[in-house]
Parts: sequence; C-alpha cells; structure tokens
Amino acid sequence: MAVVMGVAVVLTFVGSSAAQKTKGKTRASQTKYLMRGIVQPNCKGLADLLKDSGPADDKAWDTAACQASCLNEASYLLMDDGRCPDGVWAGATKTLRENSALALAAIEKKDLDGTKAAFKSLTGACAACHKAHKSK
Ligand code: HEC
Repeated sequence: MAVVMGVAVVLTFVGSSAAQKTKGKTRASQTKYLMRGIVQPNCKGLADLLKDSGPADDKAWDTAACQASCLNEASYLLMDDGRCPDGVWAGATKTLRENSALALAAIEKKDLDGTKAAFKSLTGACAACHKAHKSK
C-alpha cells in the first residue's frame, strides 16, 4: 500500500512539474508563446543590432534598450504563476535577469563592447534552461 501511494505521489509530482514548464498555474499563456512572442524576437532583434559596429543611431540604441528591457521583464514572467519547476530553471532566469540588466546599463552608456559581453552571457541562460527543460 505504501509503495502504491509512493508511486502515485511521484506520478502526480512529475505530471504537475511538467505542466508547470509548459504553462503556469492560472494565467492563459503557454511558455512556448512567451518564448515565440517575447523572448525570441527580442533576443534575435538585439543580436542583429549588436552585429558589426552596433546600433547606428540614437533610435537604434533606444530599440536595443527596449529589447534588453523586454528580456529583463521576461525573466520575471518565467518565474511567475508556479511556472518554475526547479533550480536549473530558477538559475537560468537569474542569468537572464542579471545580464539583461547589465546589457541595459551598457546600452544606456552606448558601450558596445559591454553590451556585447552582457548579451553573450545572457544567451547562456537560453542554452542552460533549454538543455534541461525544452524537449526536442
Ligand atoms: C527558464 C527557462 C528558459 C529560458 C531562460 C529560456 N527558455 Fe526558451 N523555452 C523554454 C521551454 C520550457 C521551452 C519549451 C516550451 C514548450 O514547448 O512547451 C522553450 C522554447 C523556446 C522556443 C520555441 C518556442 C515555440 O514556438 O515553440 C524558442 C524560440 C525559445 N525557447 C527561445 C529562447 C531564447 C532565445 C532564450 C534566451 C534569450 C530562451 N528561450 C530562454 C524555457 C526557457
């Protein structure tokens, strides 16, 4: 009986933690739509702007600031609503949060090298979380 109960508890836990990766507890959006709609376009946009000699004018730097800000905010969304299943997830969102904030600070100074370095560290968060939590 104890074994059966144990198995049931494990199955319940595995089921709910998987559900929490793909969607939070109460809000409507699935994780993949936060990725496709917010995280991916801002990451790609910032990567494109940082190529070569970087943002061409004030407007482009302001767009970079917008993209770093959206990525920073996404780090909070990913922790909300019971979506976080474990320490790998929490650690990756922390990496995303800290490095997007560093990128934003560098962007505000129009420091291209500083922005590129922070952005490189930021993308480590995508890889770390996907390795553990994104099915292929
Ligand atoms: C804290 C965890 C986490 C972080 C950090 C993270 N992702 Fe994801 N990402 C996921 C998970 C989980 C999925 C799979 C969601 C699913 O299929 O249900 C996913 C899926 C995706 C997808 C596929 C979306 C689709 O349309 O199916 C893209 C693109 C993506 N992530 C880009 C990124 C980029 C770029 C970054 C870094 C800037 C990033 N992700 C950071 C967890 C994360």
